Amino acid sequence: MVASGYPGGVKLGLGGHSYIAELGNDPPPSFEEQCALVAACLDAGIRLLDTTYYQERVALGRVLRELGRRDEAKVTGWNFFKQPGKEDELVAWTSYAPHHIDVMLQELQTDRIDLLVIHAEDDPATLHRELELAEVWAKAGKVRHVGLGMAGLGHLDQLPVGHSVTHVLAPYNAFNRDAAALFARARELGLQTVAMSPFIRGWKLDEIGEDTAEVAAILLRWVVTQPVVDRVIVSMRKPAWVLANLAAVARGPLTPEEERRLATWVARHR
Ligand SMILES: NC(=O)c1ccc[n+]([C@@H]2O[C@H](COP(=O)([O-])OP(=O)(O)OC[C@H]3O[C@@H](n4cnc5c(N)ncnc54)[C@H](OP(=O)(O)O)[C@@H]3O)[C@@H](O)[C@H]2O)c1
Repeated sequence: MVASGYPGGVKLGLGGHSYIAELGNDPPPSFEEQCALVAACLDAGIRLLDTTYYQERVALGRVLRELGRRDEAKVTGWNFFKQPGKEDELVAWTSYAPHHIDVMLQELQTDRIDLLVIHAEDDPATLHRELELAEVWAKAGKVRHVGLGMAGLGHLDQLPVGHSVTHVLAPYNAFNRDAAALFARARELGLQTVAMSPFIRGWKLDEIGEDTAEVAAILLRWVVTQPVVDRVIVSMRKPAWVLANLAAVARGPLTPEEERRLATWVARHR
C-alpha cells in the first residue's frame, strides 16, 4: 500500500453532493457550473474531491475529463452503487464485491481511485472481506489508499492486524461532535481523519438565520482548527464559496467572542 497523505493541497476537500439535486441543491448545477466549480477548487489547491453516490462519480468523471485535470485531483469513492429500477434515487450502501471497482472506475472515467472508502460494517467478517478486496485492487494499481467511512469508535477495533486502512471519515461539526473520540483514537493508530458536513447539508446556515457568510465562516473555522481533524469535506455549488471558505480557513481559530456566538447557536439549534 502506498504511504498515506496527500502531497500539497489545502485542508478542505470538495463534497460530491455539490453535483446533485437530491441533497438540497435546487436547481442542480449545470455541467458548465460543475466544471467551473471543480476548476476553481483545483486552481485554489483543493485537490481532494469526494464522491459518495454513483451519480456523483458519473458527474465528476465527466467534469475531470472535460477539464483534462484528472491528475491534479485526489478522487474519493464510496460503496454506493446504481441499482436496477432505482437509477434516480440515492440508495443505501452495498458491501464491495469483486466487480465493483471496475464499475467505479468506468463511472469516474479513470484508472484509479485515490481514496477508496469502505462504509463501516458491524459484521467484522464482511469488513474483512472488503479489506481483502481493497488490497487486491491496490496491488493492481486501481486503488491508492483505503478509508473507513461513517465509522464509529468500535469499528476501529474490528480492523485486522496488518490492515491497509489509512483514513477514517465521519460527520463532525460544531453541532455533532460524536466523532471526536473516534478521531482521537484514529490519530493514535496513525490514521488520517476526514470530517464531513461542516454545515449539516447547509441546513444549519438557514436555521441560525444570521448573516450567512459570517455563520459559514465560524462553523468552518471551528471544525478546521480542531486538533483531531486532518481534512474537512464541504459541499459547494458555487465557485464563490470556494474562495470564501478558503479565506475563512486562513483566518485560523475562533476568537473568544466568536466562540461565544457559536455556543449560543449550538445551544439554540442543536
Ligand atoms: N453528511 C454525511 O453524512 C455524509 C456522508 C458521506 C459523505 N459526505 C460528504 O460530505 C460532504 C459535505 O456534507 P454535506 O452534504 O452535509 O454538506 P455541508 O458541506 O455541511 O453543507 C453544504 C451546503 O453548504 C453551503 N455552503 C458551502 N459553503 C458556503 C458558504 N461559504 N456560504 C454559504 N453557504 C455555503 C452549500 O450551498 P450551495 O448549495 O449554495 O453551494 C451547501 O448547500 C458531502 O458532499 C459528501 O461528499 C457526507
